[in-house]
Amino acid sequence: MFKEKINSARLPKHIAIIMDGNGRWAKQKGFLRAFGHEEGTKAVRDVVEGCAEIGVNNLTLYAFSTENWSRPKREVDTLMRLLVNSLKKEIKTLTENNIKLKSIGNIDNLPKKAQKELQEVISKTAENTRMTLTLALSYGSREEIIHMVKDISEKVKNNEISPDAVDESIINQHLYTRNLPDVDLLIRTSGEQRISNFLLWQIAYAELYFTPILWPDFRRENLFEAIYNYQTRERRFGKTSEQIS
Ligand code: IPE
Ligand code: IPE
Ligand code: MG
Repeated sequence: MFKEKINSARLPKHIAIIMDGNGRWAKQKGFLRAFGHEEGTKAVRDVVEGCAEIGVNNLTLYAFSTENWSRPKREVDTLMRLLVNSLKKEIKTLTENNIKLKSIGNIDNLPKKAQKELQEVISKTAENTRMTLTLALSYGSREEIIHMVKDISEKVKNNEISPDAVDESIINQHLYTRNLPDVDLLIRTSGEQRISNFLLWQIAYAELYFTPILWPDFRRENLFEAIYNYQTRERRFGKTSEQIS
């Protein structure tokens, strides 16, 4: 059991997960990809509860990328329908566990129904304090960066910010993730070892953890193993090992 091995004083402040492998999971079992997405929602629930259980404060899940809009329309429709259904169903889990829901990404691109459901859950959970769960929906890091540059440029034009004042903190304040700490641990399931346009700025010093487990099979024990592995690493942030210890 990895849970007992975790040092609760050194938990990652922010965990981000690229939930990958739903399609392959279904295909291996002879099902349609849609079933993999459906089963993936069970993994989401378990991991969210697992984070709350051990005291992780921020969890960000990559649910749908800007590039995922290029998938066949049928699959996109399934994913949007699942999103609405899950939001409806999971409001209970979120409330019981005192979890606040947020989203990052270009939400205007989602179907109206999904936008409405999302806004509803966000406002109903806004006062919750135990953990922030952020869903990356229609999210792409490059889109986020473009959005940030446009916002800052506009403020510079209106003399609200001087160009000399632009620093890391100003940039952070203009990203979708503005109220979140940097990512400490980034997990990707399914064996792929790439970032796929996720949180490029925010993972500058994140520890990366790749596992071959396909997302629908991922459970809190797998998450605890990833956290335990994270805690065995020495994070140097450019310094020498001697400076750290
Ligand atoms: C992740 O699973 C879910 C989304 C990207 C929406 P995939 O659908 O990418 O599954 P694979 O990678 O094809 O197995
Ligand atoms: C990344 O998975 C996006 C999400 C998990 C939502 P993809 O399956 O879309 O990534 P690529 O295209 O294989 O890199
Ligand atoms: Mg994939």
